Amino acid sequence: MCGIAGYIGQRNAIDVVYDQLKRLEYRGYDSAGIAYLNGSGINILKRAGKLSELGKLMGQRPDECGLAIGHSRWATHGGPTDTNAHPHFDRYEQVAIIHNGIIENYLELKTELIKDGHEFRSETDTEVAAHVIGAEYASGVPLEEAVRRGVKQLRGAYALVVMSKREPGKIVAVRNASPLVLGVGQDENLLASDIPALLPYTRDIVILEENTIATVTQHAIVLTDGDGRELPLKTEHIEWDVAAAEKGGYEHFMLKEIHEQPDVMRQVIAGRIDDEGNIRLDKVFSDFVWHEIDRVNIIACGTALHAGMMAKHLFEKLLRLPTDCYYSSEFRYGDPVLSPRSLAIFISQSGETADSLAALRLCKEKRIRTLGIVNVVGSSIARECDRTIYTQAGPEISVASTKAYTAQVMTLILLALYIAQVKEMPGVRVPEIAAELKGMGDRAKVILGLEPQVVKLAEQVRRAPLFFFMGRGADAYVALEGALKLKEIAYIPTVECPAGEMKHGPLALVSDGVMAVFGASESDVRDKIVSNMREIQARGGTVLAITTEDDAIVERVANVTLKIPNGPFDFLDALLTIIPMQLLAYHVARLNGCEIDQPRNLAKSVTVE
Ligand code: G6P
Repeated sequence: MCGIAGYIGQRNAIDVVYDQLKRLEYRGYDSAGIAYLNGSGINILKRAGKLSELGKLMGQRPDECGLAIGHSRWATHGGPTDTNAHPHFDRYEQVAIIHNGIIENYLELKTELIKDGHEFRSETDTEVAAHVIGAEYASGVPLEEAVRRGVKQLRGAYALVVMSKREPGKIVAVRNASPLVLGVGQDENLLASDIPALLPYTRDIVILEENTIATVTQHAIVLTDGDGRELPLKTEHIEWDVAAAEKGGYEHFMLKEIHEQPDVMRQVIAGRIDDEGNIRLDKVFSDFVWHEIDRVNIIACGTALHAGMMAKHLFEKLLRLPTDCYYSSEFRYGDPVLSPRSLAIFISQSGETADSLAALRLCKEKRIRTLGIVNVVGSSIARECDRTIYTQAGPEISVASTKAYTAQVMTLILLALYIAQVKEMPGVRVPEIAAELKGMGDRAKVILGLEPQVVKLAEQVRRAPLFFFMGRGADAYVALEGALKLKEIAYIPTVECPAGEMKHGPLALVSDGVMAVFGASESDVRDKIVSNMREIQARGGTVLAITTEDDAIVERVANVTLKIPNGPFDFLDALLTIIPMQLLAYHVARLNGCEIDQPRNLAKSVTVE
């Protein structure tokens, strides 16, 4: 998510780290900071806003030193302010820390530390990690030992980089589930969250393995494990150019973001499901009276609305809670009937979509309760909603949304489970569904393994004049999103509808060469889906079915089948079927030579009507 930079060597480390942060700007961020050593101790400079703001601050206090760490933050815990920006000090200002990821148990740790007299300046989980490590360091152990002891107390995902006043020639780094790379230079060494920040200085890199601690000095990098045993150092030589490195070696941001989905699915639930399978959203909903809510209106645009439709399906099926979905643009001018007992949910990746924001303001005027499901922390929708749950997907750069969608649906599932938990609904198996949510990342990873099959398929179907996307139940809603991906980036016309609706018009468009993609994960309606497939084939269409591994019936009928791993809950299976559809859209567009990350006529964030 955020950008990490670090340097130790003969150059002015402050300039190098600033340059490294500039090279990570393309990822998006909302504040930045730098820590370095000077005569009096550790100096921290940090500012909300663009890097140039930090640059101005640095210009006011020109300095030189051989060791610095820097960070560009994409807010998760606490808004994008000067105080929440990294680096953070420990209690004694002996160590400074930068961090990517989410410390899941930071509230528990913070409560304990406050009891011990620690005071916190920011709202971040990172500052808690700084205090935990600082407390260990105060016992006099070397910095790497303090980090080793400290991270044993942390739960969650992190890449942490730490410097100290007492050991001025050393940077210590550790990672668990968040990326971190080290750059091996001549009489200098570097650290970064991403390879582009290393390339101007060195092409020899070390990819830090999970739970490995790196001690980086000017002339050496030493790796140790959780018990302090030394580990071998494997250096790789990188040939990528900067543009390829920014995309993590993928050809496009969209493909990179599709591949990030397993991690995103883990990130969404990080800190929100406890070991007993309870949903922890109490902080967002303190004082919220769920029993007063008798209706939900979901308001959004584009992909976010498709995520909302999945929520409608779930809220009605699981919670028996009447739910309507509205296009924001229609809602704001449509004079909707709004019951005072309703909840309006606004879903938005950017949090800045003009129509959604206007619809939100309308609800606020009418004193309707509002909830935001937003990716960008501190964005307008996030700020103006009464409550907000962040989707924690990290910055999304490709205009066609992929990981933000899966994160939105996962967040809405968490919300549905939370409502069931609060209302004590015995029919909803909250811990069981929660356990399945924890496994979604692994299932998504397996599905990404279908990519070679999807590439072959894309080669065969890339000239099809028209694609249908269909399904029943939750699959029908995912079909809308699958179709949108293909339309947006491959410019191929699509028809998307619930499969049962096909006979009421769309079937007239089926002729030779037409391609029909069916989501077929809903087991209760499989026979009906099979009949729909036959109807397409009888008229010259070709059928691609995305179904679960245990299915034999659909496979026998479809022309091509892609199978996803089985799970006990159809709506989770349905969500996973979007991954092959995203891959199909991507590879068709790529083979047809389309502009993928910035498709014609479209924008990532539509801030005008
Ligand atoms: C644009 C983007 C879509 C997005 C929609 C809503 O059309 O291209 O990817 O789904 O806006 O944006 P939001 O930021 O509100 O989710």
